[in-house]
Amino acid sequence: MGFTSANEQYLSKIATNEQHGENSPYFDGLKAYDNDPFRTNQNPNGVIQMGLAENNLSYDLMEDWIKKNPEASICTTDGVDKFKDVAIFQDYHGLPEFRKAVAKFMGRVRGDRVTFDPDRIVMAGGATGANELLMFCLADPGDAFLVPSPYYPGLDRDLSWRTKVQLFPVICESSNNFQITPEALEEAYEKAIQAKVNVKGLIIINPSNPLGTILDTKTLQALVRFINDKNIHLVCDEIYAATVFSSPNFISISEIIEDVDCDRDLIHIVYSLSKDMGFPGFRVGIVYSYNDAVVNCGRKMSSFGLVSSQTQYFLASLLADEVFVEMFLTESAKRLAKRHGIFTNGLEQMGISCLKSNAGLFCWMDLRSLLKEATVEAEIVLWRVIINKVKLNVSPGSSFHCVEPGWFRACFANIDDETVEVALQRIRLFVGKGKEKEVVAVKNKPWQKNLRLSFSPQKYDESVPPPCLMSPHSPIPHSPLVRTRT
Ligand SMILES: Cc1ncc(COP(=O)(O)O)c(C=O)c1O
Repeated sequence: MGFTSANEQYLSKIATNEQHGENSPYFDGLKAYDNDPFRTNQNPNGVIQMGLAENNLSYDLMEDWIKKNPEASICTTDGVDKFKDVAIFQDYHGLPEFRKAVAKFMGRVRGDRVTFDPDRIVMAGGATGANELLMFCLADPGDAFLVPSPYYPGLDRDLSWRTKVQLFPVICESSNNFQITPEALEEAYEKAIQAKVNVKGLIIINPSNPLGTILDTKTLQALVRFINDKNIHLVCDEIYAATVFSSPNFISISEIIEDVDCDRDLIHIVYSLSKDMGFPGFRVGIVYSYNDAVVNCGRKMSSFGLVSSQTQYFLASLLADEVFVEMFLTESAKRLAKRHGIFTNGLEQMGISCLKSNAGLFCWMDLRSLLKEATVEAEIVLWRVIINKVKLNVSPGSSFHCVEPGWFRACFANIDDETVEVALQRIRLFVGKGKEKEVVAVKNKPWQKNLRLSFSPQKYDESVPPPCLMSPHSPIPHSPLVRTRT
């Protein structure tokens, strides 16, 4: 059934404003996968989903724990005795044992170098709900938050859509590996002031989505000093804290404020179990604020996004099992490191480099040399080829507000080993490193410098398949069915 925009005339301005961002390539890519999903046997020519930051690599460990602890689930013979207690209405404070277990877990994920107070744990519907809840608490419509770019596209929806908060990007560039500089911070702040906008805060994502990098102590200290000097809030989205898979270790803002003199009322952490535990469906989001008023107000607001008591009850048992948690976190990091290595080394062999990273469920691929020209339009043309012909849903940098065209985010932890191999094989053929005989002479154009493409730039026209795609042996599908809206 199709819905036309004419239906929208009866809706509110909030419901129909464009800030949701659903019409971006990021969301289009997700839809392209839904229309034609890759399945090893049933649909081997389908789109491979590399646009979803999910952590599916350690589900077997979780399933083992669930089987060994049937009483933790109230819908089992062993757990049903607790059904009545858990099914009745729970207020917005959350089950005490849940808050206690989450606080302990947050400390463990941060190397037990800091502790968290269970009374400051406020529930929300995932980090999505937690980010919005904080905006409702901290800013009025029209106020601004600064956010280093590139950043997770969902932030436009989560921070701005319903709250009407404006985002001002702090521009980060590849020349210094996308680090946040004091100059870029000041520039973003000044821009907002010149636009006569009230700046209420800065939000950072650490570890970064989409970069997969972590912020070092010096940068975090500088950020705290910056917000303290300006007397604005600092929101730290630490949803990827336990996805750090190699050194250096993750450093949380909670550790930094132990050493840097600052007004703690300005510091707020957003957390969730969606990435670190691989539970995005459970919708477990947390606001941890050092500000009593925010805790009180946030708790009242959490009525709109409570975690179900069944989920709280289950997680209270799971997270209280410290031996399991320790084993899970260690093994999960090991598996992420391995998968990251397989994918990035495979790309490296084809001449594709990624930003050096040690966290997250994705890598930030540098495909600048494949662009016809350094424009967003050229990036979208390349993205269309990748999604429609190579049939990989990766996400273009422009949807992360990256100012340099040619960067793409590829997620690697939501698919199995075999699918990773198929994805790498498709990319190999795409860049002409698959079968040497099929590789057409390398042209010496600047945009082809690092990559030996097997087709000429004119053929970046979606209607003409490049030669490597026409091989009968190619794992890349022959008849693209995907329709994307860009
Ligand atoms: C940085 C960041 N924040 C928030 C979210 C939303 O997470 P949740 O599923 O917990 O709502 C995501 C999801 O990708 C994310 O990457």
